[in-house]
Amino acid sequence: MSTSTHYLGKATSRVDGRAKVTGQAKYAAEFNAPGLTYGFVVSSTIAKGKIKTIDTSKALALPGVLQVFTHKNRPPQPWFDRSFQDEDSPPGSPFRPLFDHHVHFSQQPVALVVAETFELARYAATLVEVTYETEDHVTDLGVQRAKAYVPKQYKNDPPPDARGDFEKAFQEADKRIEVEYTHTSEHHNPMEMHASTVVWEEDGTLTIYDKTQGVANSQSYVKQIFGLSKKEARVISPFVGGGFGSGLRPQYQLFMATMAALELKRSVRVTLTRQQMFSFGHRPATIQPIALGADAGGTLKALSHKAIGETSRFEDYAEIVVNWSGMIYPCENAQFGYQLAQVDAYTPLDMRAPGGVTGMFAIECAMDELAYELNLDPLELRLKNYAEKDLNEDLPFSSKELRACYEQGAEKFRWAHRQAAPRSMHDRQHNLVGWGMATGSWDSAQQPASAKAVLSLDGKLTVSSATSDIGTGTYTVMSQIAADRMGLPLENVTFKLGDSSLPHAPLQGGSWTVSSVGSAVQLVCDGLRKKLFKQAQKLENSPFADASFEDVTFAEGQVRLTQDASQALSITEIMRQSGINSLEEEVDAKPDSKQKKYSIYAHSAVFAEVKVDEDLGTIKVTRVVSAIAGGRILNPKTARNQILGAVMWGIGMALEEESVMDHTYGRFMNHNLAEYHIPVNADTPEIEVIFVEEHDDIVNPLGAKGLGEIGIVGVAAAIANAIFHATGKRVRDLPITLDKVL
Ligand code: MOS
Repeated sequence: MSTSTHYLGKATSRVDGRAKVTGQAKYAAEFNAPGLTYGFVVSSTIAKGKIKTIDTSKALALPGVLQVFTHKNRPPQPWFDRSFQDEDSPPGSPFRPLFDHHVHFSQQPVALVVAETFELARYAATLVEVTYETEDHVTDLGVQRAKAYVPKQYKNDPPPDARGDFEKAFQEADKRIEVEYTHTSEHHNPMEMHASTVVWEEDGTLTIYDKTQGVANSQSYVKQIFGLSKKEARVISPFVGGGFGSGLRPQYQLFMATMAALELKRSVRVTLTRQQMFSFGHRPATIQPIALGADAGGTLKALSHKAIGETSRFEDYAEIVVNWSGMIYPCENAQFGYQLAQVDAYTPLDMRAPGGVTGMFAIECAMDELAYELNLDPLELRLKNYAEKDLNEDLPFSSKELRACYEQGAEKFRWAHRQAAPRSMHDRQHNLVGWGMATGSWDSAQQPASAKAVLSLDGKLTVSSATSDIGTGTYTVMSQIAADRMGLPLENVTFKLGDSSLPHAPLQGGSWTVSSVGSAVQLVCDGLRKKLFKQAQKLENSPFADASFEDVTFAEGQVRLTQDASQALSITEIMRQSGINSLEEEVDAKPDSKQKKYSIYAHSAVFAEVKVDEDLGTIKVTRVVSAIAGGRILNPKTARNQILGAVMWGIGMALEEESVMDHTYGRFMNHNLAEYHIPVNADTPEIEVIFVEEHDDIVNPLGAKGLGEIGIVGVAAAIANAIFHATGKRVRDLPITLDKVL
């Protein structure tokens, strides 16, 4: 073998790419079973009240309709314990489908029709007649703001403590701004709809193909709710057609399909419609009052960042929104606040960089406003207020190459050519041109994760962990880590995921998969290397007889003396000579305790150019440069993919995405992709992605920070700031649609 087996840091195409583009990759609703039946969910037409009557007789009369489940005939479950928590539950009590006659939100599932075909189930669902007694609902955060409260309990970090004396410093500041930013609710719109195919096996066990970002989480949900053992419910999810957070919590189609399968003793598939995808979690509408004060030179003297987020009546979904300001800016007089206001809607749900995109949008626009007050370049203002340590936690950063992001991003964008005054730049078509920038940050967490590795006599390595690949490139990067560590060709390595029978992994979210599962994969390979080395040493005439493990290198399918590569044995040779058919190792990897002494984040600087047609108010993002400090980049190709997708989503957040609630009905009205606008190819600007050099040996043994979320943070602010620069009009409410600009 002569090809290199070093893969980390090399642009590598997806190992699952062929399966995906040829249709070999199967998603939750594509698994079949003999005698499969189909469930269709009936959704509530009111936002709040009670079901008075529910008549299922017409649906049941159709030949081929097997059952219609409602709150009246649903089986009693052990689960209806309000304290049930899944891995991503906020404090409160979860929504319980078909529990009773109460309706808590519009489109709440009120019945499940199960039939021999999907078309029949869908038709029969239209025949279910429900009458309601409506109660007054409130869905407007602006109205409920008056009743906002501080949550008693947080799933994540609470806002930081106040420091210094904000009021005094604000009054004494040379320049001040006091503003309020808002954005509407947004919904996850992955291409793949939520679906569960529950295969009922003859022995009564269930094999569940679920759309989820964590098979372990789905398994624990059905286990607890239906009183099943791990063996009785296996959850499988090899491919996910986009998650973005929508699959972090088990959704009601999983409950419905599992309940029906157990009751009917048949295999059941329940798929939600695009409309029904708007019936559960979403990014919460949030209001953010911000006040900043600076001295004449531009040093921040006072910072106040508050937020009021929307939540449901039954769970306190709190995000980390205001903390970012106190971490990014080293202001000594600062205060923070976070409150929730309840509306009659479903509980919000983490959506790509939850809280981070929200908070950084507000503070980064506010900093832009302050820069104009000060007559300072917005980039210069950031550099004047650069945090060398995290004042929230009073901790040093494990690494922070944000300055390099600012510098390299600005250079690539040609920021120095910016004319400071708003409305001063034009293109040849007489469009107003605006240049804006913003900072981004996202935490780089490591969670405990396990992995198993099996090396077989033919030199093939199979590594497994019950994580997911929601499109992020997990299959590929884990294969690269394993191949690189073992010195095996990539094609000899198979990585398995998405099966609850594999070693435990956390939900795929929070940008922690590479850090968590990747560390486990590296560790398990290290264990295997040691085992292999021991075997090699025991062989007759072993070239390693006097060597220690530290003296050898694994490369090109061989174990070699690092000092003398001619002293080598191939991995397959070692196994053959030792008479072993396979070598196994399983590990649990945990974050090192030294991480507690550091503040650990990825950073970014985003630069955006917009062109605004002054007559029509249309806005086009024409250029984006995103410079990322994300530690060691394991696969520049999949890494760049992550940032490109995130930039596109940031454009959506800035200009298009908006779940429009009709407060009369308490319902999101644009629950389809014709009216819920997302950026399309025609909206795609020139996007440059820069990964700056960043060395970090604290974050995890790989030195890599997660990239799933950092790419979207800061994008909306950079665009909003560019729009101000182009037009001189400050729009503080997302999305910035043309009516707000005109
Ligand atoms: Mo992400 S919102 O942690 O899937």
